[in-house]
Amino acid sequence: MARALITGGAGFVGSNLARSLLERGERVVVLDNLSRAGVRGNLEWLRAGPGADRLEAIEADVRDAAAVRRAVEGVDCVYHLAAQVAVTSSVSDPRTDFEVNGLGTLNVLEAVRAMPRPAAVLYTSTNKVYGALHDVRLREGRMRWRFASRRRGIGEEQPLDFHSPYGCSKGTADQYVHDYARIYGLRTMVFRMSCIYGPRQFGTEDQGWVAHFMLRTACEEPVTIYGDGKQVRDLLFVDDLVRAFHLGSAALERGESGIYNIGGGAAHTLSLAELLSALARLYGRGPQVEYAASRPGDQPVYVSDITLARIRLGWEPRIPVKAGLARLKEWMEEARRLLGR
Ligand SMILES: NC(=O)c1ccc[n+]([C@@H]2O[C@H](COP(=O)([O-])OP(=O)(O)OC[C@H]3O[C@@H](n4cnc5c(N)ncnc54)[C@H](O)[C@@H]3O)[C@@H](O)[C@H]2O)c1
Repeated sequence: MARALITGGAGFVGSNLARSLLERGERVVVLDNLSRAGVRGNLEWLRAGPGADRLEAIEADVRDAAAVRRAVEGVDCVYHLAAQVAVTSSVSDPRTDFEVNGLGTLNVLEAVRAMPRPAAVLYTSTNKVYGALHDVRLREGRMRWRFASRRRGIGEEQPLDFHSPYGCSKGTADQYVHDYARIYGLRTMVFRMSCIYGPRQFGTEDQGWVAHFMLRTACEEPVTIYGDGKQVRDLLFVDDLVRAFHLGSAALERGESGIYNIGGGAAHTLSLAELLSALARLYGRGPQVEYAASRPGDQPVYVSDITLARIRLGWEPRIPVKAGLARLKEWMEEARRLLGR
């Protein structure tokens, strides 16, 4: 029976992945320091769900190398998701950001390298490794910015240009994970992910904007838009991401390593302004909106070119944005309860 370790497994993406692996009959070890507000509720959800007898939860920090070494014992695949996830927090406290994202990742890689039969490692990186994309020409529309020419979006050949401490620490980890395949022959894969959304997400102003805007709308609280609101992202519903993890781990099992941009792609995009309209339709009223100056490193447009993942992993997103938003709305009541709002 396969055994997986998910660092950050109580988080939004991690708990969805854990549930899916448990449903597939795997044994799952979750290592999480439970620092993100609300994620204890995700762990309870996993403990009450199918395959819970095959779930082991370890409350530990990825900065603790000894704890990470113990957690990888007997594991076939490590999904390394635990992270300091907010650009804003990275700017105010770059040391903690680096220690969690940089050193935490090195701890995972070193623990795996020391295993008698090293596990495969799949790392969740970010589109932020491509920087603010200032040199990419844009066109302005009424509700959104667009790339003037990159019809399919940003591909993996885009030069790296780490921007913000978060971009630097995640980018460092991204390159370490990639390099451990070259230098030590580990089986590793990097997913450079753009905006992921879905149930079990506790969106805040600092991370998880779709869930954050929806939560604020549900709670009848105002939202702040940094910039003109025409910023565009490709959106990926979490179930589609979980499918990419399954395909990625199967590829790792075959001995394939690699780096992939994973996102909704050109067919699944939304601007902030368009999200506000969608929320008004879903809730019968949009949130009250305040505007502020744009934030450092904020890309006016980011759309992933997912061609490589389509060709090599046989993966592409299936869930349209409209259906995904409706599924996210179903989760809002539980999110409010878990957050006490
Ligand atoms: N959600 C997105 O849109 C998105 C986009 C790009 C990349 N990512 C990456 O995907 C991964 C998962 O993101 P998410 O949205 O599920 O975030 P999340 O905050 O919901 O999950 C991260 C989990 O890691 C845990 N954690 C934080 N610091 C830790 C530490 N020092 N030791 C152990 N556990 C720790 C948190 O408690 C949380 O449960 C992260 O690496 C993130 O950078 C997410």
